[in-house]
Amino acid sequence: MAQREAISSVVTSGQFTLDGGTWDVDNNVWLVGSDDEVVVIDAAHDALAIVEAIGDRRTQAIICTHAHNDHINAASAVADATGAPILLHPADEVLWKMVYGSRPPDGSLADGDMLTVGGVDLRILHTPGHAPGAVCVYAPELGALFSGDTLFAGGPGATGRSYSSFDTIIASIRDRLLTLPPETEVHPGHGASTTIGAEAPHLTEWISRGH
Ligand SMILES: [Fe+2]
Repeated sequence: MAQREAISSVVTSGQFTLDGGTWDVDNNVWLVGSDDEVVVIDAAHDALAIVEAIGDRRTQAIICTHAHNDHINAASAVADATGAPILLHPADEVLWKMVYGSRPPDGSLADGDMLTVGGVDLRILHTPGHAPGAVCVYAPELGALFSGDTLFAGGPGATGRSYSSFDTIIASIRDRLLTLPPETEVHPGHGASTTIGAEAPHLTEWISRGH
């Protein structure tokens, strides 16, 4: 069998619901690791598609970049299918409970946490703003950042709904993400990938436009 890439993704479709609104969304589900083991970053919408993409590999963990329903709604089914623990920053408990009620995540993520999967080191960066417990996952040797809904091609994640803060997301992006090497590939939770270097020059534009 051909060796798999360290990074792959599945795009799944479903709905995002918050504050009484519902929107159709496509989510990027990222798999990072090796031929032997992976982590899943954001188990969105379609557990079967995710389990198929994992194949016969061991799933070390399901990392939630934040607990908006569209990023976690397949997490329990993928956890049940693989035996992997679901990991979430505790500051997103309020959002988690909207989907899973009293079933807690299996473990918590904190800023600076390190995981190694298939020989790839992953560092958790707490980047609140889009959600209070939003995290990004940085893989220095791969030159890759999994940014969830914190940073997209074209700017910050949305901060207009409950539990979000524009000033906070700007501080997270400025202090934690734009300080990474400019060639770092940014793989977000929705849409196309970008790089730190492509986004960094636009920070003041985002601040003046306010989103
Ligand atoms: Fe989100």
